[in-house]
Amino acid sequence: MKISIRQATAADSYAILKYTKKILDETPYMISTSMEYVNSVEDEEFWTRQTYEDGGIIFLAYSGRTLVGMLTANRQRRLRKRHTCTFGISVKKSHHGKGIGKLLMNELIVWAEQQPGLEKINLEVFSNNLIARRLYQKLGFREEGRLLKEIKYTDGTYADVILMGRPL
Ligand SMILES: CC(C)(COP(=O)(O)OP(=O)(O)OC[C@H]1O[C@@H](n2cnc3c(N)ncnc32)[C@H](O)[C@@H]1OP(=O)(O)O)[C@@H](O)C(=O)NCCC(=O)NCCS
Repeated sequence: MKISIRQATAADSYAILKYTKKILDETPYMISTSMEYVNSVEDEEFWTRQTYEDGGIIFLAYSGRTLVGMLTANRQRRLRKRHTCTFGISVKKSHHGKGIGKLLMNELIVWAEQQPGLEKINLEVFSNNLIARRLYQKLGFREEGRLLKEIKYTDGTYADVILMGRPL
């Protein structure tokens, strides 16, 4: 089915809530676990509004009427970091490997290039997330640092957090 990308509004909050619960259940590559995700629809509405008020953006990928991917970019509030933004991205497991992640990333880069005063996109990725790292590298992100053993899984294994950046 054709994928359409559009910007989120507060009306998407319920879909975002359901989607986020599912994603956090599916992936070991996000900082939060689904157990810790206790947001209500009102919380999601609040965070959507807050993201836009701070100059950020949320892109949603829909397959028909189903939300299958999401990218949230947050603009830093503080003056000395205002020239940077960070983002988080996810795609439903059932839709991996179909180019949706790349579509969302391209939307982010086009948007970022148009933002006054924005000079750099930053991200954090787990060292064991090889697919995401490859995607970012292909799009011009470069490793800038690494937090060793920053992530600890319940089975006692660790992952590093890699800091990557892409100048605009
Ligand atoms: C990372 C993620 C967003 C990628 O989304 P996706 O829609 O599956 O990715 P795409 O289909 O657009 O593929 C983009 C690139 O990723 C890489 N990739 C995708 N699937 C891959 C696979 N099975 N094996 C190896 N590389 C793969 C390729 O480099 C691909 O580029 P190419 O098509 O030019 O070769 C998705 O895997 C995801 O949501 N993962 C769980 C959450 C997550 O890890 N978020 C990122 C946290 S930093």
